Amino acid sequence: MKLSINIDHIATLRQARRGDEPDPVAAAVLCELAGAHGIVCHLREDRRHINDRDVRLLRQTIKTKLDLEMAATEEIISIALDIVPDLVTLVPEKRQELTTEGGLNVTEHKKHLSTVIERFHAKNISVSLFVDPEKSQLDAAAEIHSDMVELHTGEYANARNEAERAPLLLKIQSMAEYGKKLGMRVNAGHGLNYWNVEPVASIATIDEMSIGHAVISRAVLVGLERAVKEMLELITRTRQAPI
Ligand code: PXP
Repeated sequence: MKLSINIDHIATLRQARRGDEPDPVAAAVLCELAGAHGIVCHLREDRRHINDRDVRLLRQTIKTKLDLEMAATEEIISIALDIVPDLVTLVPEKRQELTTEGGLNVTEHKKHLSTVIERFHAKNISVSLFVDPEKSQLDAAAEIHSDMVELHTGEYANARNEAERAPLLLKIQSMAEYGKKLGMRVNAGHGLNYWNVEPVASIATIDEMSIGHAVISRAVLVGLERAVKEMLELITRTRQAPI
């Protein structure tokens, strides 16, 4: 089980003063030193946290894997094709949202996404589609040759009690298995934290987790290296002895 850390919120803190600290590039290096397998950042259309300079420096600096989260819009696609991250994760993006709210509607935008995937593949950039754990979305993702899907765990994370949570976890589990059967790698992310991550980490068909807010929030209190190490230990231990 691999762990990629989303460092957007380091940039959010920097943007609170429109200054130059804390630097998400320095944070990425610390995450790697703590054992993270990859760094994720989301270059939004409104550049509310990560900006173009960050993505370029991250590309030059990090030694693991750069996953650029992005909307499939022409401006961001051309930046990504120029920077060549290891992986792009395509997400839906709305200006007003606080964070990515739902999965990508791959069935509806199949034609456009198929062309975008072809353009990235031509540059040897792998593509992941951030989708709700729904069969139709996974079918569409496989049909347009997505290398990977990231299953949206937000609904599971927001469940208020066990009765709500259990069926959502089962859905993630069965869709992770289904995605694997379709020949894609399966990641999971959104809203995962130190309290809800273990059941998801127990799902053997999930290759990787993408976690941001919980780790950065913990880092404010205990330091970034410790926060990353604690999450890594938690998911590694759970994978070895599933709950
Ligand atoms: N995966 C995707 C596609 C996301 O948009 C986000 C949020 O930026 C995450 C994972 C990480 O979510 P969180 O910050 O809640 O851990």
